[in-house]
Amino acid sequence: MGIETLTSAPAAVTTAPQKPTLLIVDDEPGPRESLRIVFKDRYNCVVCTCGREGIDYVQKHPVDAAILDIKMTDMTGVDVLREIKKVDPDTECIMLTGYETLDTARAALRLGAADYLNKPFDVFAMRELLEKCLTRRQEKRNRTATLDTLQQMNKELSQELAQTNRQVTAGVISAGVVHEMNNPLSIISGYTQMLARDLAAMEAGKAGNPQAVQQRLSSIQREIERCKEIAKRFLNFSRVRQSAPGWVEAAKLVEDAAALVKAHPGNRGLEISHHASNPSLRCRGHAAEVLQIILNLGVNALQAMEGKGQLDFSAEGVEVGPASPIYRAAEYNPQQPFVRVSVRDTGCGIAPENLQKIFQPYFTTKTQGTGLGLAIICELINQNRGAIAVESQVGKGTTFHIFLPVGQ
Ligand SMILES: Nc1ncnc2c1ncn2[C@@H]1O[C@H](COP(=O)(O)OP(=O)(O)OP(=O)(O)O)[C@@H](O)[C@H]1O
Ligand SMILES: [Mg+2]
Repeated sequence: MGIETLTSAPAAVTTAPQKPTLLIVDDEPGPRESLRIVFKDRYNCVVCTCGREGIDYVQKHPVDAAILDIKMTDMTGVDVLREIKKVDPDTECIMLTGYETLDTARAALRLGAADYLNKPFDVFAMRELLEKCLTRRQEKRNRTATLDTLQQMNKELSQELAQTNRQVTAGVISAGVVHEMNNPLSIISGYTQMLARDLAAMEAGKAGNPQAVQQRLSSIQREIERCKEIAKRFLNFSRVRQSAPGWVEAAKLVEDAAALVKAHPGNRGLEISHHASNPSLRCRGHAAEVLQIILNLGVNALQAMEGKGQLDFSAEGVEVGPASPIYRAAEYNPQQPFVRVSVRDTGCGIAPENLQKIFQPYFTTKTQGTGLGLAIICELINQNRGAIAVESQVGKGTTFHIFLPVGQ
């Protein structure tokens, strides 16, 4: 007993790489031999003389198709079929059956066998069946390869879309950001003029006040820091994706989001507040992406409020995530601590029948909307292993909760 290949050399040596591999498992030498002779030119034939050997072979080598005798002394062909399907469900299996095992052969079809043929088999029927099986296997492989390519393209497109969304938002708020810098710059300008006056007085022989000069200099320094902070916040948001996820300070996140929404041209003097329960709380993720999530929610809130009401950004730590959030990442695990970032508005609210639809790409109730803001958030939540929950009451307002795993 043993695995027989076409020559006495091991299978790997005799295998022509372009030929598909056909496994023949039969403990009767007659049919086994004739199958091998008939198919040796078309296939790389591997012949096993009992079920155990067949299973051992498929567990170590790829097999395209198998012909399995149903009735063998050590186990049934159905047992071998089951094991083959565990290793590769796409391996095509043909059962060889006698009259007494016909019912078993039919049962094998339910376990994924392609077909069965009666012993003694007809060579032409067997050849035709095998060809059909291999064509089907090839088609399945092509389909899987196409699906993989499409999924990869979809992933790349989603990332590109998120990136474009960030750039567009950055463009929209850039004017506001420059405007925001005006304040500290005019304060700096004021203090510089005062210092120039102090200097002129000192030159004219008047006694200087070093304490006042020191105070003016520190005020200038403080306003320069403010400018740097505004610029940094904006650049952090608009820059491209870093390769590895880092961590984001929750307090900084809500502060930056509030400042950037304030700078958005859609903001016409709304009350915008932010707070974080714990200043050292951090969440895992890409800083710019996490900020983009909160900013997209903030812009939606602005638009829902139409210039009046209150908008609040808050962050706090929670022990576990929600069990059934309205949206969850594929790799979301609720049994761990999360940072919950909430964006609460007192705007128009969302009608209950729209709650499920709002995350669909292109769903919008706005004349100027693309309906992509929340779909992009979902993609970013997916990449950052989080979840989204939402509470809304028509006419009262909406709160979106974003759950992101706590950063180490
Ligand atoms: N805070 C909110 N209050 C009320 N409705 C909201 C709120 N956030 C989202 N929605 C609803 O969800 C829809 C989808 O939002 P989404 O951000 O995906 O797209 P959009 O804002 O319409 O367009 P875009 O973001 O592409 O400019 C909105 O059109 C709106 O009906
Ligand atoms: Mg939007």
